[in-house]
This record gives sequence, structure tokens and C-alpha cells, in this order.
Amino acid sequence: MIVGVPAESMRGERRVALVPAVVSTIGASGAEVLVESGAGDASGFPDQDYSAAGARIAASAAELLAEADIVVRLAAPEGEAELEGLREGQTLVGLLNPLGNAEGIAALAGRGVSAFALELLPRISRAQPMDALTSMATIAGYRAVLLAAATLPKLFPLMMTAAGTVTPARVLVIGAGVAGLQAIATARRLGAVVHAYDVRPAVAEQVESLGARFVELDLDAGDAEDAGGYAQAMGEEFYQRQREELARVVADSDVVISTAAVPGSAAPLLVTAEAVAAMRSGAVIVDLAAETGGNCALTQPGEHVEAEGVTILGPLNLPAEAPFDASQMYARNVASFLGHVLDEGALSLDTDDEIVRGALVAHGGQVVHPRVREQLGLAALEPQPAGTE
Ligand code: NAI
Repeated sequence: MIVGVPAESMRGERRVALVPAVVSTIGASGAEVLVESGAGDASGFPDQDYSAAGARIAASAAELLAEADIVVRLAAPEGEAELEGLREGQTLVGLLNPLGNAEGIAALAGRGVSAFALELLPRISRAQPMDALTSMATIAGYRAVLLAAATLPKLFPLMMTAAGTVTPARVLVIGAGVAGLQAIATARRLGAVVHAYDVRPAVAEQVESLGARFVELDLDAGDAEDAGGYAQAMGEEFYQRQREELARVVADSDVVISTAAVPGSAAPLLVTAEAVAAMRSGAVIVDLAAETGGNCALTQPGEHVEAEGVTILGPLNLPAEAPFDASQMYARNVASFLGHVLDEGALSLDTDDEIVRGALVAHGGQVVHPRVREQLGLAALEPQPAGTE
């Protein structure tokens, strides 16, 4: 069994899917690692480090794809040429954006590829070491605060100097999931006064344990959390009230880091143009939901927008800006996942297993995941007899 690691092709992508430190872990699962030459260069892992760890180097992507049984990547293949590089019976593992790009999953199924989308791993304790969404959101939350601090014309911490007292920056974090909690912790370390809000009231305790104040809004968010711990989409009336209630807290903030997301849906619009106009000149919004439409009405994905003296940033791939640690964390997640699905060097697709069933999106020429099928308007598949395929 050969696990192949191609160089990532997306513009600005500096991460690599496997790092030298996990080559032996994958070897212990009975597989050999093959890396495209130069794949780890941008993240600080040169070919010789992979070779020293026991991996083989392929001279080109074509050579790698011809040999690999399992291809591990960060993101889904881009464009026809990359898709055509994959062949029937090959397995692909990555952050494939299955709910945002269901057509891409259908295209993989059309090529006869078995694809695992790590975003759909169940968030159960057994799957925590494989949870790449958590790893990447942790980095995004951290980098968002650094971005805000570097853009804000104010300092973050309180400083008492001979030249007078500098008051601390006021940071509001909207959405206190993985990225939001890391943003709170980072902003606190930099000395800001931090407030945070989430539609799931259960997170108030976590917010306060990090030294931030939880913002209470006069809203009934009773059924905001689903059984998987995620937020559910709420009605437009709820969001309307939420925007009105949040506006006064936004106006009082120097920085807003927004991370609110509902898996499989567009990001909720929480900060209106009017709320931005009421902010102080020089204020900064970092909208981590930019990829799914943004939490702020003025966000442009991947762009830097100035409106009424406020800067609105919509970064699209912050984890790629810390490629060394992002690659290490991702690689450990992938190695752990491969350890779970590889049995003495053979791939075991036990669809009775919650982890396999959760992440498997394409198999046997079909899109097999119910949520991806739903996005594509396909009827549900007949349940398969239980057991290993
Ligand atoms: P996410 O990226 O889907 O959403 C980010 C945050 O936005 C969530 O906290 C969500 O409640 C919040 N949000 C959604 N709509 C909102 C609105 N209208 N206003 C304010 N906030 C809103 O979620 P993420 O960060 O990937 O994880 C969500 C939760 O999943 C975690 O907080 C945790 O409970 C659970 N989780 C469990 C894990 C495990 O047990 N293995 C691992 C990681 C997360």
C-alpha cells in the first residue's frame, strides 16, 4: 500500500499533507510513503527530511499519482487536469469541502475514486486525534487575532508609561467554537479586553474560563444547538433580532473577530453595514466566515475592504500562513485517520464504523454520503447490508 503526498496546487497554499515525523507512524500501519519532490518546501520540510524518515521521493505529480494507492492532500483536486490524474480504485483523503463543493465530490465519484472528507468525521472523542477541522480552526483563530493586532492603529495591551496610559483594545469575538475560543485566548494573551458571543449558551462557561466576558443578548436561542454540538440555522427573524442586539456591542469594539458558521449553510449575516458605520474610525473586522459568505455585510472574500474608516478583512486560508505547524497538526490528524482505516497495509472500509461511514463521501462510482447526496438533489441510497466491504 503506497500513500502518496502531492504538492498542493492552490494559489497561496503553503502546507503539505504529511510531514517527515509521521512517515514512521504510517509505516507502522503497513504502508509506504511516497512524496512529490518539493511538496514540503514551502512549509519547511525539504525532500531530504522525508528521505531520512524513510519516505521515497517521486520526481513529478504524474509519477506519484501513477504509483499511489491512497492520495492524501489538504484540499480537493483543482480543475480537470488534477482530477484526471486520479484513477479508479484510488483513495483520496483530504479537506474536500463536501458540503460547499458537492459537485467536486460527484466528479471524484465519477472517476471511481473512494474519497474521505475529513470535515465530516464525527466529533466524537475517538475521532479527536483525526479532527483536522479543529486543528486548522485553532490556527485560524490565532492568526486572525495577529492580523487584527497588526492592522489596528491601537495597541492591544494596557500600558502605563511615562508618556501616559495606553488603554487596552476592546475585542469582540462572535462565534465561540474552536476558532473563536482560540481567538479569545490569543487576544487575552495580547492584553485586550475581550467579549464574546455565541448562539450556543453552553459555551458561556468556556468563554469566561479564558478571561473573556460572555455577551448576553435578549434572544431565545433555545434550539440553537444540534445533537452533534453544532449550531443550527435559525430563522431570518432570529438573525434580524440578533443583528440589532449585537450592533451596540460591535459599536463599542475596536476589533471584531467573527467566526459564526452553520455547517452546510451560508454563514449567518450578523454585522450590517450600519453596524460597521457606527464603529470607531480605525476599527478592524476579521471575518473568518468569508469563505461561506461572511458574517459581515461588507466582507469581500480574500479582500481588504475600507468602509467609513473601518477595515474589513476576509482572509480565506489563514492556516496556510503558519504552514510549519499547520502541516504538522494536519499530518498527525491524517496519520491517525490512516491508522484507523489501514489494517496491516490493507484498506478496510468498514461502513459499520461511525468514523468510516461519517467521512466516506464517494465510493464504488457513487456519492455515498447522505448529506452530500442531499446537496446534489440525489435520492438517498438504499441501506447496505452491514459489514466490511
Ligand atoms: P463551526 O465552525 O461550525 O461554528 C463556529 C461557531 O459559530 C460555533 O460555536 C457556533 O455555535 C457559532 N455560531 C453559529 N451561528 C451563530 C450565530 N448566529 N451567532 C453566534 N454564533 C454562531 O463550529 P466549530 O468551531 O467547528 O465547532 C463547534 C462545536 O463542535 C464546538 O464548540 C464543540 O462543541 C464541538 N466540537 C467537538 C469536538 C469533539 O468532541 N471532538 C471537537 C471540536 C468541536
